[in-house]
Amino acid sequence: MATRLFEEKDHIALYQQFRFSPQQNLLGVIFSYLERKKTNSFQLAVDVGCGSGQSTLVLAKRFEKVVGTDISAAQIKEAKRASHPPNVDYFLCPAEALPFKDSSVDLITAFNAAHWFDAPRFLREVDRVLTPAGCVAVSSYNLEAEVHYKDCSEKLTEIFMELREQFFAYADEKIQRVMNGYKEIFDSLLYQDKKRFIDIVDKVPFSIAGLMGYVESLAMYQTFLKAQPEVAKALLQNTEKRFLEAMGVSSRDTTVELWMKHICILGCKNP
Ligand SMILES: C[S@@+](CC[C@H](N)C(=O)[O-])C[C@H]1O[C@@H](n2cnc3c(N)ncnc32)[C@H](O)[C@@H]1O
Repeated sequence: MATRLFEEKDHIALYQQFRFSPQQNLLGVIFSYLERKKTNSFQLAVDVGCGSGQSTLVLAKRFEKVVGTDISAAQIKEAKRASHPPNVDYFLCPAEALPFKDSSVDLITAFNAAHWFDAPRFLREVDRVLTPAGCVAVSSYNLEAEVHYKDCSEKLTEIFMELREQFFAYADEKIQRVMNGYKEIFDSLLYQDKKRFIDIVDKVPFSIAGLMGYVESLAMYQTFLKAQPEVAKALLQNTEKRFLEAMGVSSRDTTVELWMKHICILGCKNP
């Protein structure tokens, strides 16, 4: 059954404000694979589980047409509302029933989303809609990030991991797929030409306020917030205070770097 965790207006607003686009090193791995496999057609890319559209936009310069799809009406509404180039469109639909013709899509991506899907049904749809030699790229960051700032990175990372431990108890069971490095999705992908990376690192700049907003936008934090609102709010406030103290600064606009580790599965349909 589909997991519906991205439907509420307040959560979607946080999502739009604090989630970031896929970054340079991850995109480098995806695009260099794509260029090696699929040299002559960059007509249609589909970003499945597109959320509020940040991940879809990174494809717009490379493809004639890009479509973001999501099961959440609230996410699609937000994606449509946000600024996007004319070759980008958004559809409301489940990953397991994509509204595209057979052999019509050159690239399918799913950024930070595939663990929520019914993987075997999604991968059947991928195979149906991909063109011969079309590619699929399924990726997610895990939550084992490091926080870097001057000479106190070790302390900040420790504080971040302690924060993570507190709300991780509220993670949906599907998050286990991320913790397993998407191994089961990789095994279900039947293409001979496939690869799995588990250690692509991107460094994402965040203000301390932005980092707290990013944590708030996580589905597991939202579940924690619903279960124990006062405890969840106090945890964020206290963590922010500990970060600022460790850094020896007072402004929540101070920028740190979050070093995120990505899992990425790439596959190419037989030509
Ligand atoms: C964590 S968000 C990722 C959004 C975006 N790709 C990003 O990287 O910021 C996961 C998205 O997957 C969507 N989703 C979950 N299950 C889905 C399904 N079965 N079919 C399509 N979308 C789904 C959710 O509604 C949510 O917007």
